[in-house]
Amino acid sequence: MLKGKKILIGLCGSIAAYKTAFLIRTLVKQEAEVRVIMTASATEFITPLTLSTLSKNPVLQEFKKERGEWNNHVELGLWADLMLIAPTSANTIAKLANGLCDNLLCAVYLSAKCPVFFAPAMDLDMWKHPATQSNIQTLKSYGDQIIPVEKGELASGLEGEGRMAEPENIVAFLENHLTAKKKSKTALSGKNVLITAGPTQEAIDPVRYISNHSSGKMGLALAQALQKKGAEVHLIIGPHNLEIPEGIKVYPVTSTIEMLEQANALFEKCTIGIFAAAVSDYRPANVSSEKIKKSDKNLQIELTKNPDILKQMGKKKKAGQILVGFALETNNAESNALKKLKEKNLDFIVLNSLSEKGAGFAFDTNKISIFSKNGSKEDFPLKSKDEVANDIISAILKLI
Ligand code: PMT
Repeated sequence: MLKGKKILIGLCGSIAAYKTAFLIRTLVKQEAEVRVIMTASATEFITPLTLSTLSKNPVLQEFKKERGEWNNHVELGLWADLMLIAPTSANTIAKLANGLCDNLLCAVYLSAKCPVFFAPAMDLDMWKHPATQSNIQTLKSYGDQIIPVEKGELASGLEGEGRMAEPENIVAFLENHLTAKKKSKTALSGKNVLITAGPTQEAIDPVRYISNHSSGKMGLALAQALQKKGAEVHLIIGPHNLEIPEGIKVYPVTSTIEMLEQANALFEKCTIGIFAAAVSDYRPANVSSEKIKKSDKNLQIELTKNPDILKQMGKKKKAGQILVGFALETNNAESNALKKLKEKNLDFIVLNSLSEKGAGFAFDTNKISIFSKNGSKEDFPLKSKDEVANDIISAILKLI
């Protein structure tokens, strides 16, 4: 599974660094290509010569200004198929969670485009400290993976959680990740997926409209994640300011009626439909062809009900099609979401509540719960929308 993989290993200052020597030897035995970066304090625990011998590559260290040496952190970050920082100290966790960049390892982390894994190692109280735990959550919200610490005797002589995972467990964690990635790629490869995203705008007159605060970010995160897994993505999106990568088929729309027409045209050929758009439930009954002039009187605009796009797709849904909706709530979140799940004939509904900090409109993060038609419920912590998209895709994969 790891054969031919380009693995960049970072080491921080911790006694657990000795275990990384075994880890590197295992990875090289499995024919992975390993390059190693050490922080200055890591070199106090294990010599670069040991790791260079085991990895069969020169070990990269700090920028050596006085020797005129320069390691291209961008090139390293792009080279790797995966980056693993093992051991990761509390100090480096804090730095990376906050985007600090005072050594080569931090610079490479910030430039890395590949999945990043952390194998923390520290004393039990350092591990338990709310500052460390909050930094860990921040790293998770960036999409990074934390390899669970293990329990046992620590360098301080104390017993508890904080030991770096054993090399064989780290290798198993990486292999599981790669297997899951491969499986999801084959399961979704070539599948047609329809996504709605962004707001709709309902014209009042040629200059005014009714709309909402949706940015389209959640829908785009889903589109990108599904495209990466080989799906054919059709994205119907309301007015937005996002950059949409090539390869995603985009259908720009403005009003709910336009969104419905596109959904009707595309849904039948899709295996999966994910409806993340914030659709206006009402539109002006009459659209003035001229700008409505200001007067001294109050203005009343009669609103007529818009079609429920998702509900219509739920009625059309055939065996083998998977239909996912979102519920954006401010109150009675769970019961409203469950009602929508049933009424719209969904396989599952993703609830996000505006009462949760960092969730919903326009943020780069979201906090969701997934309610399935089989009665299960899964709560997720606050994460980046990219990571939330992957959680939603995992829930879909369970249904395929
Ligand atoms: O775009 P972002 O800024 O990233 O924000 C993301 C989001 C908050 C918009 C997204 O996560 C979200 O919650 N989308 C659904 C918003 C919404 O309109 O929820 P709702 O509870 O009103 O609708 C329930 C479901 O029915 C949704 O899947 C919606 O797309 C669909 N619907 C609703 C009304 C309608 N007339 N037609 C529909 O298809």
